[in-house]
Amino acid sequence: MYNWEELKKILKDCRGCGLCDTRHNVVVGRGTETARILFVGEGPGEQEDLQGKPFVGPAGKLLDLVLQACRIKEEEYYIANIVKCRPPMNRDPLPEEAAACMPYLRNQFALIKPEAVICLGRIAAKSLVDPNIKITREHGQWVDKKGVRFMATFHPAAILHDAQGGNAKKKMLFDDMMKVRAFLDGKN
Ligand code: URA
Repeated sequence: MYNWEELKKILKDCRGCGLCDTRHNVVVGRGTETARILFVGEGPGEQEDLQGKPFVGPAGKLLDLVLQACRIKEEEYYIANIVKCRPPMNRDPLPEEAAACMPYLRNQFALIKPEAVICLGRIAAKSLVDPNIKITREHGQWVDKKGVRFMATFHPAAILHDAQGGNAKKKMLFDDMMKVRAFLDGKN
């Protein structure tokens, strides 16, 4: 296991999978390195790749709005992704890319020591909670794994891309985040 400084240095030069060939920046994470909550997304999009920070594009703006509405502050969370480099054309990360990057997420988890991990979307939920998970059915449910709580919820990009069901999903994302707020407040 590496400390933060070592980990960031190693990640900067990582050539562990093919995504290194097309990336502009490795996106390590943002937020508070001792937070109680770890959010995990899928992988950097265009803006994240250019700026080197997760969730700073349109999906990130929506996530920020929902977090603000639920009074979840940056001091209370860290946010990272399953893969740290942008998959070309925002395709899903390949299983071998996710596997190559997983030791870095595990290292981040070990440094942060979060009390709860919130998976944003299917890719993170399948990797971290259950390979057969159905977000529409199981979102918002806490699952205990070795004393750490895990929850899957909707990816904000899935809300933006869903013209018909987007509003309903946004409300469900909000309700799930209110459960995170309640947890932070010691209420569940
Ligand atoms: N989508 C993700 O899953 N992660 C990001 O960092 C941005 C968009």
